[in-house]
Amino acid sequence: MTVNQKPDTFNGSKHWPGLIKAYRSFLPISDKTPIITLQEGSTPLIPVDSISRLIGKKVKVYIKYDGLNPTGSFKDRGMTMAISKAKEQSCKAVICASTGNTSASAAAYAKRGGMKAFVLIPEGYVAQGKLAQALVYGAEVLSIKGNFDKALEIVQKVSDNFPVTLVNSVNPYRLQGQKTAAFEIIDSLGESPDFLCIPVGNAGNITAYWMGFNEYLKASKSTKVPKMMGFQAKGSAPIVNKKIIKDPQTIATAIRIGNPVNWEKALKVKEESNGEFFEVSDEEIINAYKILGQKEGIFCEPASAASIAGLIKIKERIPEESNIVCVLTGNGLKDPDCAIKNNDAIFHTNLDPSLDSVIKTMGL
Ligand code: F0G
Repeated sequence: MTVNQKPDTFNGSKHWPGLIKAYRSFLPISDKTPIITLQEGSTPLIPVDSISRLIGKKVKVYIKYDGLNPTGSFKDRGMTMAISKAKEQSCKAVICASTGNTSASAAAYAKRGGMKAFVLIPEGYVAQGKLAQALVYGAEVLSIKGNFDKALEIVQKVSDNFPVTLVNSVNPYRLQGQKTAAFEIIDSLGESPDFLCIPVGNAGNITAYWMGFNEYLKASKSTKVPKMMGFQAKGSAPIVNKKIIKDPQTIATAIRIGNPVNWEKALKVKEESNGEFFEVSDEEIINAYKILGQKEGIFCEPASAASIAGLIKIKERIPEESNIVCVLTGNGLKDPDCAIKNNDAIFHTNLDPSLDSVIKTMGL
């Protein structure tokens, strides 16, 4: 199987129109829906040969680099749908709870659609890049002294009782938009992969991918569906451990979630796809994060590296010559603190500003 080049024309134009227009016939959109888009989607599917070699058995590993969406995460796929539908319903304000990426994306799309955005975040546990985005896009940020699960509980009550639309993944339009990533993978490979490896937090994305793979199978765009392999961070792995985690902890703050709202759906995906869920430790996540950076030139946020860490962990279970797609959900620039603390770079500081000192330091 080879990766096809993306078509250089789209409906006669060279311009990618965003995922709603590209996959319109698969989405609950009517002529009346105003399309709020930042031309999200069409992210690259990149072969990562160092990871393929690490797994061995002539497997082929690709990453779906969804950190290249307009606000740097896969959330934009769902948000273009959720905000367009909110606009269609004349909504004036949206709200979400977030570990950071949903808030950045909700803020950007809400503002583009002329709406107010309220975001609830767990104080002290949102990576700097994500917070910066929500602030710059002009969201009203409410930082609570509690975790994501508590924040989600609150925003659900707010939207139940006030005219504010909830844009977390319980909003069904979010998953509709996110399922297009599965379409793109099949459009690139010409077939479904054998395995999809994906980080799991609130378990919306794994549910959306499964929907997408099944819809493309039904539309005869593929002949099979992948086994869905979900990876949670150790310390924040309620599905793996079959119990709510009261005080979830992990370096991968994006998936620091103890009571996923889509828990039941995720179990159904696991069962239907013959897939499995595992936990990966912070050390395994950072190891994968560094391999991606140092060997492949790919910078993702720690939660995203959980998909690669997970694949490395379960490599014994992967059959020969499998095609595997690992989803990189968010961009590395989202979490600069993690990057600065976790790298193996040689970083010389305090040097004299002279040719001599530079040459000497370089060992030339
Ligand atoms: N990867 C990243 C980078 C995320 O931001 C998230 C979720 C996930 C994976 C997990 O996806 O929840 O659909 O299973 N972030 C949410 C947020 C919770 O608020 O940004 P999921």
